[in-house]
Formats: sequence, structure tokens, C-alpha cells
Amino acid sequence: MNAEIARQLNHRTIRALTAQPLSQEIIDTLVNVARHTATSQFQQAFSIISITDPELKAAIRKITKQSYVGATGHLFIFVADEYRNATIGQEMGNAHHSLGNTDRTIAAFSDAILAVQNTVNAAESMGLGTVILGSILNDAAQLIELLQLPKLTFPVLGLEVGYPDQEPQLKPRLPENFMHFQNTYQLPEPIVPQLKDYDEIVHNYYDLRETNQRVDTFTNQIYQRLNNVPEKRHELLQTLRQQGFLNEAN
Ligand SMILES: Cc1cc2nc3c(=O)[nH]c(=O)nc-3n(C[C@H](O)[C@H](O)[C@H](O)COP(=O)(O)O)c2cc1C
Repeated sequence: MNAEIARQLNHRTIRALTAQPLSQEIIDTLVNVARHTATSQFQQAFSIISITDPELKAAIRKITKQSYVGATGHLFIFVADEYRNATIGQEMGNAHHSLGNTDRTIAAFSDAILAVQNTVNAAESMGLGTVILGSILNDAAQLIELLQLPKLTFPVLGLEVGYPDQEPQLKPRLPENFMHFQNTYQLPEPIVPQLKDYDEIVHNYYDLRETNQRVDTFTNQIYQRLNNVPEKRHELLQTLRQQGFLNEAN
């Protein structure tokens, strides 16, 4: 155990941030860390957009339906970006490429997601709080329009970073034997009865997102969400294809 590991084991999402803005130095440091994240085939297939325009923040908040988005702290949008590499190819005389195929789509999303987590680690190491925002995909097409994202780019995750204004409980994770196997996939089934203790632990967790209420058991949360697709998210495949991704033809 070292200080870094202790900090990571103490990770909590922080949704309430104080009004104190991040200094430009801190923003620059976070972006620098993100830029140094490992990247598939050295393609660096992601970009970061800092959202500073209040109207744009409000529009993104509306998409996410989460009041804390763009309210305080610094809002980053991490973008899968093969447009830059396509442009390099085009400028060098090759407009035909495979940058939108499934392989490169996965790579660009991986690059962006890893950069998000590196940024989270850096921010937390400075005592800052973060919330990753998958909710930006509630209306990906609209966000693409708002951010003027060209083809072969796609918003992957938002990330809000700021000074913590809450101290949530540590959110308990699944027992290791349900998530870590030796050599082959070996899920101990049936699972639900074996998760009775974990369900109880999760049920004792208070989620500050809602009205300071205990959360449902883990298995119930999973069950309730099985068929719950937020509106417009079923359009994601279509929007990805419109942006030139998951497309073997180009
Ligand atoms: C890919 C991803 C998307 C997420 N999207 C949201 C989001 O839109 N809004 C939010 O409040 N939290 C979001 N979170 C935070 C998770 O809810 C949180 O990590 C999870 O409940 C575990 O809690 P903890 O991070 O405090 O341990 C997201 C996390 C990940 C990894």
C-alpha cells in the first residue's frame, strides 16, 4: 500500500463542487496528463474540448438532465477523434482510409476513455473532485451539433472537475470472486443468492444524488435497469454511423 493506491481505493464520484474555479495552471496540468495517456498504435485518436461558454454549458446540462453539469467546476468533453488523422492522410494525398472501421472506432473510444480516467486520477491526487458524465450521450446528435464536431469525431464522456463540496460514502464494489477469475471466465452461478450480503451492504449506502436516501440493493438496481434505455440512446448506432464510425466501407 502506498499513498497513490490508498487514494485510488478511496475514490468517490463528487457531484457537488464549490464555486471556486480551477486555475488555468490546474486545467493545463490536467490536459497535459490526459495528453500523455497511453494511446493505441500511437494514433492519439482523441481530443478534449473545455466548455467555458455559459450558454453551451446550459445546453449540455439540458442534454444530461443533471443539474450539477456545467454548474460549478470545469467541464471537459472527451471526444473520439479520427478526423485529425484522416485530415493528415488527406493532406498527404491519401483520402481513402479505414479510420471509421470497427477496429479504429474501438481504438478511438479506448483512447478517449483512458484519457478520462488518467485525468480523474490526476485531479484526485490534487484533492479535486470529479464526475464522469456518460449522460452527455442522452442526445449525442444534438451535442455533436453544439460542439460542431466533424465526421470521424464523437463525444465519448464528459468530465467535470472542481473543488469538492460534499463527502459521499465510499461506494461498495462487488466481491472480487464475481469480477476476477483465473485463466478462464468462471462466474459463480447462481449469483443472486450469493450476493445477499453485498446487496445488504449496498442498501446501506446513501446516495447524495437523490434525497440522501438509501439506495436499492445492487441486484435490484441491475434488474430495474435491464430494459431502461434513456430516450434517444437507442439512436446511438445511427449517430455513430452518421459520424462515419462503425463503417467498414470507408
Ligand atoms: C462511463 C461512466 C459514465 C458515468 N456517467 C455518469 C453520469 O452521467 N452522471 C453521474 O452523476 N455519474 C456518472 N458516472 C459516475 C458513476 O455513477 C459512479 O462512478 C458509480 O456510481 C460508482 O460510484 P463512485 O465513482 O463514487 O465509486 C459515470 C461513471 C462512468 C465510469
